[in-house]
Amino acid sequence: MENLETILQQALQEFSGISHAAELEHAKARFLGKGGLITELLKSLGKLPPEQRPAAGNRINEVKQAVEDALIARRAALRAREMDDELQQEALDVTLPGRGMQQGGLHPVSLTLQRVENLFRTIGFTTATGPEIETEFFNFTALNIPENHPARAMHDTFYVDDTHILRTHTSPVQIHHMLKNAPPLRIIAPGRVYRCDFDVTHTPMFHQVEGLWVDRNVNFAALKDVLATFMQLFFERDDLAFRFRPSFFPFTEPSAEMDIACFNCAGSGCRVCGNSGWLEVLGCGMVHPNVLMHVQIDPEEFLGFAFGLGVERLAMLRYGVPDLRLFFENDMRFLKQFN
Ligand code: PHE
Repeated sequence: MENLETILQQALQEFSGISHAAELEHAKARFLGKGGLITELLKSLGKLPPEQRPAAGNRINEVKQAVEDALIARRAALRAREMDDELQQEALDVTLPGRGMQQGGLHPVSLTLQRVENLFRTIGFTTATGPEIETEFFNFTALNIPENHPARAMHDTFYVDDTHILRTHTSPVQIHHMLKNAPPLRIIAPGRVYRCDFDVTHTPMFHQVEGLWVDRNVNFAALKDVLATFMQLFFERDDLAFRFRPSFFPFTEPSAEMDIACFNCAGSGCRVCGNSGWLEVLGCGMVHPNVLMHVQIDPEEFLGFAFGLGVERLAMLRYGVPDLRLFFENDMRFLKQFN
């Protein structure tokens, strides 16, 4: 019984010095296990005179309880430390920036599309869209392009099957929009178009923005005004020189093409403008009465103008890009310049 206090102190000291769970279980066995020091003491109670047994038994049990408590506390402490260590090792700072990350940016064609849309929005045009796979009716017939027109030949047009094609221009969106909405109408329709053509100045896919304004008193003067204002704003030049040249489109009458003075040579003639001093930027005209009749709009009551501009062409002129194919090669050295 004199050992009891020593045993308790010994246990407490030993437990507190242990830093591994397995070691702790080992130490537990030495005190509380089958042949453990405290267990042995309990067994030896029988050797005491009967009147001393209850007091001695109580005391041994108190010590046993104290040892067990110390054991449990140490176990918890070791467990907590293990967990801390694990957390330390697995620590991951999710707020750190990734390695090798680079700032992205919009493609110059997207930037140009956004710019065109924003400018037309300020003069009251909303945006409409249409499918890229079209029927011949929407792409040609409804636009007054007769059966035997060269634009219908396999040469220009990608055929999906006997009746479906990839749209060759954004003009079919005019038809979709006029079938679904009553005039007055004022829309632009940006999107991809496809032509079976590939060289320095042509890619099989490119972007156009279609414009359409239908109302009771729209005229050619309004068309010129809208497009001249747009070009001046787009190129940020009040003194931008431009001209409208008579042209032909089956779906407009009269038709014209708009040229702006060559940026490179300011009109004197160079390689960029093919020595003409002018750069063609869009096709336009007054909507042909046949087109209006196809969509049940009375050409006696309503007039309209339409235009179609090439987005890559505008982007090349605005940013001074010399080769159309640069837009489609996705060379990072080229794209980075637009970030
Ligand atoms: N759709 C014509 C083209 O692709 C452009 C255009 C649109 C011309 C609207 C006149 C009016 O070339």
